[in-house]
Amino acid sequence: MSGFKLAIDGPAGSGKSTISKLIATRLGWTHIDTGAMYRAVTLEALELGIDLHLESSYLFLESMLIHYDNDRIYIDDKDVTEEIRQHQVTQNVSLVSSFPYVRKKMVELQKKAATKGMIVMDGRDIGTVVLPNADLKIFLTAHIEERAKRRYKEDVNKGKKVNIDQVIEDIGTRDIKDSTRETSPLKKAKDAIELDTTHLTIDEVVEKIIIQVNKKLENLVNYS
Ligand code: DC
Repeated sequence: MSGFKLAIDGPAGSGKSTISKLIATRLGWTHIDTGAMYRAVTLEALELGIDLHLESSYLFLESMLIHYDNDRIYIDDKDVTEEIRQHQVTQNVSLVSSFPYVRKKMVELQKKAATKGMIVMDGRDIGTVVLPNADLKIFLTAHIEERAKRRYKEDVNKGKKVNIDQVIEDIGTRDIKDSTRETSPLKKAKDAIELDTTHLTIDEVVEKIIIQVNKKLENLVNYS
């Protein structure tokens, strides 16, 4: 098998990145977290002090090198994997990722990163825009309270000071912004399998997806 593209989409806190990373580790595939790329652009924009509301301010992307490797993300060779999780980045990333110019640049990078090999890519528009011909598309959902609880626990474990009501509010705001923006909003692809993870553990979700991957792989081998 020379290549397989698994697209995993879903809203904030649906577990996409954690689950995608685990699947990639289990299968020995490459994981690409596209949300991390939009976060890197947001971090750089904040550091440069540009007007975040003006699309033309993002022309700095013409010379900015974003590199994603082995679940670490780099801006011009500087590792920013931890910095992109800052609250200020989270608060502004929906705005930054709503600009068609920013999306065009990131989608180009993402398509290129997925051209070869066995890939698990997660985001909001992977099944619809980035990899419309993916071999398997999964759309993860979960009730907002459950998603907020997961994010809250993650933050507490990282030693961050957080408040659950604030997390629910942040996720709700991002849900609205991510699914109502004009350019490639968060949307389930017609041919995606929807998986409600509210009452499932991470391992159960991983297991369910791997079963689907194996089914697809068997079909591909039988018909090739
Ligand atoms: O998955 P995340 O929470 O790290 O993503 C951060 C933001 O990036 C999210 O609010 C929307 C945006 N995003 C996007 O617009 N398209 C993607 N493919 C991935 C993320």
